[in-house]
Amino acid sequence: MRLDVVTIFPEYLEPLNVSLVGKARARGVLDVQVHDLRRWTYDRHSTVDDTPYGGGPGMVMKPDPWGACVDEALADGYEAGAHGPVMVVPTPSGRPFTQELAVELSARPWLLFAPARYEGIDRRVMDEYATRMPVYEVSIGDYVLAGGEAAVLVITEAVARLLPGVLGNAESHQDDSFAPGAMADLLEGPVYTKPPEWRGRGIPDVLLSGHHGKIARWRRDEAFRRTTAHRPDLIERSDPAAFDKKDREMLSILGWRPGPDGRFWRDPGAVEQ
Ligand code: ADE
Repeated sequence: MRLDVVTIFPEYLEPLNVSLVGKARARGVLDVQVHDLRRWTYDRHSTVDDTPYGGGPGMVMKPDPWGACVDEALADGYEAGAHGPVMVVPTPSGRPFTQELAVELSARPWLLFAPARYEGIDRRVMDEYATRMPVYEVSIGDYVLAGGEAAVLVITEAVARLLPGVLGNAESHQDDSFAPGAMADLLEGPVYTKPPEWRGRGIPDVLLSGHHGKIARWRRDEAFRRTTAHRPDLIERSDPAAFDKKDREMLSILGWRPGPDGRFWRDPGAVEQ
């Protein structure tokens, strides 16, 4: 997969040399090219921003440097044999970044990231490239960062670990929280490793039992517990057909009740029975 990142802070992308993404680069699974947007400015101050038309606070990124830099990054990529680019523009006003979108992006051969600073990039840049390729405006959460670079790191890591040959164990993303299908959209419960006792704290007996059926049941119960505490909306949205008898017993213990449409609901003040 080819990744291009256009930024005014190339050093912000240094983490792409480390850990999983760094190894994927070293192995040739990822070809990452970071471009310093200011190289495509031609005034004494290397200006990349200007005041917004219509007034208002903040500054807007000028279209000229973006257009020149993105054109060159695209030309370079095509020359290197890449094809099928997708432009990814991190912005708090984008569509939510989800595991589903990570899976979709991981199937693309080429992602070109356009992280903005200031109030954003002149709209005409996205409109221009949308005539040539899919342009995804993506938000990594309901908060406002100072710029899109951190979002590029987040999206890249989520996508890179899905590429064939990047994770050591081919199955290790199959039961991630949010992996489509796996735990029917439950959060993963707690995990433990050696030593068996740490600061007076032991391991749940069931995990030492060697009884695979009981361990799977316990993990699922813990997933229900955690999802109830942190993301009750995931259970409210779930298709109740995904829940077996044991699931329903656990849901009942956690205060969930089937509603008239079969979906589960819970009084937020409910306590474990
Ligand atoms: N840039 C600033 N805030 C952001 C967010 N929440 N997601 C993606 N890009 C952003």
